[in-house]
Amino acid sequence: MQNAKAGESQDEFLPFSKPCLLKEDIDAVTEVLQSGWITTGRKCQELEDIFRTTVGCKHAVALTSATAGMHLAVQALEIGTGDEVITPSMTWVSTANMIVTSGAKPVFVDVDRDTLTTTAEQIEPLITERTKLIVPVHFAGASVNLDPILELGKHHNIPVIEDAAHALGTYYKNRHVGKRGTSIFSLHPIKNITTGEGGIFCTNDDNLAERIRRLKFHGLAVDAFDRKSQGRSPQAEVQEPGFKYNMPDLNAVLGLGQMRRLSQINEQRARIAALYQEHLRDIDGIVPLGVPPHTSLHSWHLFIVRIMPEITGLCRDDFMESLKNKGIGTGIHFKAIHKQRYYRKVFPGLNHLGNTEWNSERICSLPLFPDMSDQDTDRVINAIRETLKQKVSIV
Ligand SMILES: Cc1ncc(COP(=O)(O)O)c(C=O)c1O
Repeated sequence: MQNAKAGESQDEFLPFSKPCLLKEDIDAVTEVLQSGWITTGRKCQELEDIFRTTVGCKHAVALTSATAGMHLAVQALEIGTGDEVITPSMTWVSTANMIVTSGAKPVFVDVDRDTLTTTAEQIEPLITERTKLIVPVHFAGASVNLDPILELGKHHNIPVIEDAAHALGTYYKNRHVGKRGTSIFSLHPIKNITTGEGGIFCTNDDNLAERIRRLKFHGLAVDAFDRKSQGRSPQAEVQEPGFKYNMPDLNAVLGLGQMRRLSQINEQRARIAALYQEHLRDIDGIVPLGVPPHTSLHSWHLFIVRIMPEITGLCRDDFMESLKNKGIGTGIHFKAIHKQRYYRKVFPGLNHLGNTEWNSERICSLPLFPDMSDQDTDRVINAIRETLKQKVSIV
């Protein structure tokens, strides 16, 4: 795949992520700019249609971010003061923030040490009469073992919303993530496809879909764009106070071409991940995440390794610094939420989460994006080998 800005030199900084955009994607944005209609409209609906088909769900609602999707979900389920939501601490802060800002309490669940996915066995003991929602996270492109979690939710009559921010193109037991329940995808620039910023709320629940549509646009009884009136009804009235989270066409159109190329994009990612796995096999102390056995297709959103200080003599932060000095970008996905300042202060008695904390100190995401060449992958591996030889700092 040839990026719109091709031909970068080998000496340039290799970022840890880069969107995979072609000239035709940029032309499509220009067309929308010239069309006279740049906010929510036909392009947004096309993006929702292509998501419905790809995911195989009944409804898809395009939003300004996955965080907006989580905010609306919490609002639509009327979660507030005194309620609890179970979600991993090993995730992006947005979920916990949306829980806390609606007045509820996040109850953090630990994850599997090798895959960073959470399990029904870990969730079950945390359920109380105050639990109003369970949010498992499909992590880095691998799926959680969803069946037992859905069973658990059904058994206790607690809704499950899958955080599918990393899971566009991920299949669980041969079905696309999100096909069977309610899920939220992110279209942030580091995700497998991007609309600049954006999120898609997918569900098979007619009532929930209707409420999300209403809440995303001021709580009016109409969508931001009506197919029949080619706009929105000026007579619409507020049914309940809502928000302003509708995705503009300007963003939606950027996602359309990428969605059509999704399998190609993810094949490239898988190819790079396979190269990493092969090279890292004989490097001691740099251990990639495991792939859960139930995942039938991994979308390789991230390639995460654990830096073992006991073996390498290096802590993760020094490892990242060394790679940066060698022109290689890296990331951390994620720092345990319950260890972050606000959460430490406001919820001092939070559970010890052994696997989350162990990984939180060791994980590092290596560069992974479709336009990476084999030479780029070699550069990363060589930089890792050199770093280990130099042992910049001893822990
Ligand atoms: C696991 C996870 N959930 C939710 C989000 C929020 O996505 P967005 O940036 O689209 O709001 C992210 C973003 O990085 C994420 O990684």
